Amino acid sequence: MGFILAAVGSAVGLGNIWRFPWVTAENGGSAFLLVYLAIVVLVGVPGILGEFVIGRRSGRNPVGALRELSGSRTWGLVGMLSVLTGVALLSFYSVVGGWILRYFVESLVALGTAGPAPYFADPGSYYDGIAFTTDAVLYHVAFLVLTALIVFAGIRRGIEIGTKVMMPAILLLLVGLAVWASQQPNAAAGYEFYLSFDLATLRANFFDVLGPAAGQALFTLSLGAGTMVTYASYIGDDRSLPFDATTIAVLNTFVGVLAGLVVFPLLFSVTGEAGSSGPGALFVSIAGAFARLPAGTLIATAFFGVVTLAALSSSISMLEIPVSFLVDEFEFSRPVAVGGVAGLVVVTGSVNALRPALFGFVAGPLVDSLLTIGLIVFLLFVGWVLGVDAVDEFRRGSGSLANTLSTPWLLAVGVAIPFFLVFTLLSSLGLGGI
Ligand code: PFF
Ligand code: NA
Repeated sequence: MGFILAAVGSAVGLGNIWRFPWVTAENGGSAFLLVYLAIVVLVGVPGILGEFVIGRRSGRNPVGALRELSGSRTWGLVGMLSVLTGVALLSFYSVVGGWILRYFVESLVALGTAGPAPYFADPGSYYDGIAFTTDAVLYHVAFLVLTALIVFAGIRRGIEIGTKVMMPAILLLLVGLAVWASQQPNAAAGYEFYLSFDLATLRANFFDVLGPAAGQALFTLSLGAGTMVTYASYIGDDRSLPFDATTIAVLNTFVGVLAGLVVFPLLFSVTGEAGSSGPGALFVSIAGAFARLPAGTLIATAFFGVVTLAALSSSISMLEIPVSFLVDEFEFSRPVAVGGVAGLVVVTGSVNALRPALFGFVAGPLVDSLLTIGLIVFLLFVGWVLGVDAVDEFRRGSGSLANTLSTPWLLAVGVAIPFFLVFTLLSSLGLGGI
């Protein structure tokens, strides 16, 4: 049970609440949503299962897992990509976590004073509502210190409690806000943009949205970085991997879609359109709403507090990748490993916190590509190195439906999905005329 809570905690985070609305807005709304949902089902769920199989089979971190299961040091080296990905992820995620933390602290402060309005920027520029200043650096470091303290303390109990509080709270807040948002002026235009599944637009944009949709699907499901490998090394043999993978995907998608039902009506109500707010979309829409809501400061405090929890349960899973690598493979002590990696990310994150263009590159194309390459590696490993052992692991602890699905699944992860992911990677890199 602890495992599933940790995995849900890793999946549900800023990817759902901040990145999903932003990337959806930037890629045209409903056509993107449809492609994204299809990828979650067809690539995401089988992909989580691939990482689960590697993790439970080996009981190790990604580097140790690939080396031990294959008996080859070369695969271990390939697995080190995860370590790099973990550092890259945390280097921007902790900046965004810092923005959230700042909004939380400032709503808290404003509770006793004038109200939230003065703290939240007005709509206008691409990065509106967020700041690339020394404040952003300070809050990034604060967020990172919180992350490091949790990882340092040993994460089990903390994540379990955190996720148990965070999931119901976030659902409650998002549902409440979605209902309120539906009554705001111009909300209908938001739904139209987000939910009008218009096939002509889909056909016209299909290849443009493929790369970003795949990137968002992997990011939001915590796939391709080895987090799910690491967490799955703790799953008992009695648990059904297909069941757990599906549960995580469903919960995670639900939170994302719900966040869209808050952000899009509000965004259209505030700015009249969706596309130009960029990474500030969440802040422009929701912070503007809190300024108008009755008891807005109170709700703002609750909201940003809960989103901070959601962000922390994801950021610890990012930090855990390089830390468990250093501890398991090089026998670093846990405090030294945590301190070393966090120290590095203080620097890389601070650069991101000050440079919008770099931030945009890391938070988008860089991380998308690393996750895509990472997942390709894991899935090829499952298909071509583990082979029938993977089928065996897939079936362990599950019922007859899983038995039936296991062979098609192996074909999908060994051939079809890697092929598809290479295609999305090339298309987002703008290569091969795709
Ligand atoms: N899935 C997390 C989110 O949606 O916020 C982000 C994430 C966590 C991505 C861990 C990758 C990862 F390994
Ligand atoms: Na997510």
